[in-house]
Amino acid sequence: MEEIRIGVIGTGAIGQEHVARLHNTIAGARVTAVCDINTESALTVASKHGLRVEPNMDSLIAANDVDAIVVCCYDPVHAKAVLDSISKGKPVFCEKPLATTRQDCKKIVDAEIAAGKRLVQVGFQRRYDKGYLQIKELIDSGDFGRPLMAHCAHRNASVADNYDTTYAVYSTAIHEIDAVHWLIDDEYVSAQVIIPSSTKYTRPDFLKDPQFMILRTAKGVLIDIEVFVNCRYGYDIQCEIICEDGILKLPEPSFPMVRKNERLSTRLETDWKRRFIEAYDVEMQDWVNSALKGEVNGPTAWDGYVAAVTADALVRSQTTGEVVDIITGSTPDFYK
Ligand SMILES: NC(=O)c1ccc[n+]([C@@H]2O[C@H](COP(=O)([O-])OP(=O)(O)OC[C@H]3O[C@@H](n4cnc5c(N)ncnc54)[C@H](O)[C@@H]3O)[C@@H](O)[C@H]2O)c1
Repeated sequence: MEEIRIGVIGTGAIGQEHVARLHNTIAGARVTAVCDINTESALTVASKHGLRVEPNMDSLIAANDVDAIVVCCYDPVHAKAVLDSISKGKPVFCEKPLATTRQDCKKIVDAEIAAGKRLVQVGFQRRYDKGYLQIKELIDSGDFGRPLMAHCAHRNASVADNYDTTYAVYSTAIHEIDAVHWLIDDEYVSAQVIIPSSTKYTRPDFLKDPQFMILRTAKGVLIDIEVFVNCRYGYDIQCEIICEDGILKLPEPSFPMVRKNERLSTRLETDWKRRFIEAYDVEMQDWVNSALKGEVNGPTAWDGYVAAVTADALVRSQTTGEVVDIITGSTPDFYK
């Protein structure tokens, strides 16, 4: 196959980004159809890029000129979109999270194993970010000894009104959960959330912000994740891995150093789309390249399942502050 024909479900913020990316930047792929329950949004995106609008995700997944699916709709609809794509034998790129419950993630894992072929990639784009990849390479080189701790922070200037306390895990920390799992290649065994005094910029009865999350792994690595989504100053992603023989820190996005008015300063990123734009491009190109060869190589449905089980444990701890066990079971041979 020289070109893969893609259907995109959901034309909201990231759906529009991915359609434009597939249209303008990615080689070997062409979007043929989109759908959205918000017909106006689907029509706007379709007319901008000359695409067809399908009435719903069922007809889009079934369409003869759709070889592969990109899922960018609301989280609770991901499971159906992915399961239906698997049942049609079509490769599917699903934005994180894979599904909103561990049970649905397990159903997807079971369906993919039953299909006998990897069809699912989860949109954990950090794994394609240059800085994360550099850290991964350094850890894997063995030159720094074993990882012992990780300090992560995920800060947004502000969030939408419907973002509640659980979103801090399911929508935000889910990226750190997957990224650190991948970086240190170790299984999570317990989770805890400690909640400090909330910022004046939130309604703590609805969204407790910030939150301090702690994960432990089977080999004893301790990971802390600060989620602070009303930090006001920008979009700031931090990751530092403390190893026996050195410390590895995620590089900052690069902006010029400015000297003016007796100050030496630089700017900070404010937009998640710009912060990870290269990672999204590389991620999507990798998915397309693999799909053209009839393969899927990126983050797996099992990775999506592990993230969901870990997220559930963190959310359980949000109300009690207690340490909650994480039991995922061993990785199926299919995903090794
Ligand atoms: N990887 C990342 O960094 C990243 C960043 C942003 C969003 N996301 C994920 O992408 C998904 C979309 O996020 P968003 O920010 O674009 O949200 P959004 O609200 O802007 O867009 C979601 C769209 O899905 C549509 N939709 C809902 N149900 C549908 C259905 N049954 N069929 C078709 N369309 C449907 C909505 O009408 C809306 O247009 C979410 O799962 C989110 O977690 C991932």
